[in-house]
Amino acid sequence: MPLERLISARQLTIEVLHDIFQRARKMRAICQNSGRTSLLADKMIGLVFLEPSSRTLLSFQSAAQRLGAGIVFIQGVGSTSFEKGESLSDAIKVVSGYCDLIVARLPKSGDAQIASAASSVPFINAGDGGNEHPTQSLVDTFTIMEELGSLANLDYAFGFDPLQSRSIHSLCLVLSQFENVGFDFISPPELQAPGWLIEQCQSRNVRVSQSNALSELKNPDVIYLNRLQEERFPDRSLFEKYRYEYRLTPEQIPSSTRLILDPLPRVDEIALSVDELPIAGYFRQAQNGVYIRMALLSMLLGRTL
Ligand code: NCD
Repeated sequence: MPLERLISARQLTIEVLHDIFQRARKMRAICQNSGRTSLLADKMIGLVFLEPSSRTLLSFQSAAQRLGAGIVFIQGVGSTSFEKGESLSDAIKVVSGYCDLIVARLPKSGDAQIASAASSVPFINAGDGGNEHPTQSLVDTFTIMEELGSLANLDYAFGFDPLQSRSIHSLCLVLSQFENVGFDFISPPELQAPGWLIEQCQSRNVRVSQSNALSELKNPDVIYLNRLQEERFPDRSLFEKYRYEYRLTPEQIPSSTRLILDPLPRVDEIALSVDELPIAGYFRQAQNGVYIRMALLSMLLGRTL
């Protein structure tokens, strides 16, 4: 069944991934050659971003415009009727009358479900609180596929805030479908991966381990890091306690490592000197965001190149 709404990475079956990756490769060729197509010239995309965003917002804008679509958007609650107390459902109902597809970044876990239910047009979750970030998991898996040629038979290390990182949650949900994968979560004891995620991974036969120190890194093929999610800490002193303690430096990278990714923004989790290494893939990963989001917009709007 074609995907019409993307709320959770649980919807991203291996079949869907392959379709999106194939589209993304074509979109990359378009970007590198003519730069634009008119595939969605008759479409209007609504961007509702109620939490800060740079990459996700800009790559969706770039994707929509490279496909020839128009854009209407809300950025931040300050200038909108949310300030006046309008509900999320009412706002989305209205916006879906102005456009053909909505992309929304929303502050609370579960908001994406509510917004999608209110939308009369296709809907994409661009991050709902500390819950999920399914489009980021597409960017991540596409990058791994393009750089390493496979998503299966790999050992992955995830740090340093698996409890609150929606990017880590969605990525693990997608990767857990693949054969012979291992996940090693590295974090302070208070920020370990949530029980639901561990259970899901184990039920799919992923080898799961957890440790509290970078020095205990096993032999990963891929290291995936994300900053401590400062804005989601109920207790700020916990953030302060660990903010400088978990930082990857070139000396700490095991020789098995073939790729280092980070959804960005980078704050303290990766030393600048890591950027020099050819295995530092995070800026290439960010660029893939445009191709993947072009692919996703075309798929959800039922268009093929
Ligand atoms: C991530 C997010 O918003 O969750 N950023 C992104 O979309 N590239 C990661 C983060 O903010 O730490």
